[in-house]
Amino acid sequence: MNNSKNILLLGAPGSGKGTQAKLLETELNYQRIDTGSLIRQAISEKTDLGLQALDYVNAGKLVPDELIIAMVISHAKNIQDNGGKILLDGFPRNIKQAEALVENNIVLNKVININIPFDKLTKRIVGRRLCTNKSCGAVYHVDFQPSKVIDICDICHSPLMQRNDDREELVNARIETYMTETKPLNEYYEKANILINIDGDKEVTHIFEDIKNSL
Ligand code: AP5
Repeated sequence: MNNSKNILLLGAPGSGKGTQAKLLETELNYQRIDTGSLIRQAISEKTDLGLQALDYVNAGKLVPDELIIAMVISHAKNIQDNGGKILLDGFPRNIKQAEALVENNIVLNKVININIPFDKLTKRIVGRRLCTNKSCGAVYHVDFQPSKVIDICDICHSPLMQRNDDREELVNARIETYMTETKPLNEYYEKANILINIDGDKEVTHIFEDIKNSL
């Protein structure tokens, strides 16, 4: 089976993974697995996963591997079996999760690592607003990408909300988790010769052009 089109977006919280993933989904027909959104949906529906994940997310920590790995592998296999191109956004988040992909023959062709200076992350995270309509899922920023009417989605006119974990006091904990658990993946994928570094401190459309050119 040819898995060679699968890609992963890596980067610190707020670096712009979700923003670029949406563009890759709509313009290049990738099928996205966004573990953060899957977990937030489970939390809002109070499923077993949601109830177990809540405290970890609210502490800026990763949810335990055993809650997340099987779910992602099952989604990924489903996409692969139907001939789709997988776009991973938020998984793997540590070496164990990366090894689970290998063990399950889910091969990544490219890993896009979005870099932005850490001093810009807090503003990006705290100013983020999301559409409450899950089938829309549009993402805004109060300064960088404001909606036309405050707190109302331009696309579907639903109210906008702030994520629970986008509070300023949690940002440092999330960055620390990224540094200790996720950043080692840069070296892991560099050694595999599939890591591409992208400057994320540019306009959204410019970053998207850079990503497309790198694929
Ligand atoms: P998750 O939802 O994956 O959060 P994250 O990795 O912290 O990333 P974010 O969604 O915060 O940021 P992003 O890079 O997507 O940025 P965005 O494009 O929105 O995970 C949440 C939690 O779930 C984790 O903390 C963990 O607890 C758990 N979890 C998830 N996956 C897990 C896993 N595999 N294992 C265990 N636990 C897991 O952009 C941010 C803002 O900036 C937006 O407002 C946007 O409009 C704006 N913006 C974007 N690009 C630009 C630009 N170029 N210029 C100006 N503004 C921009």
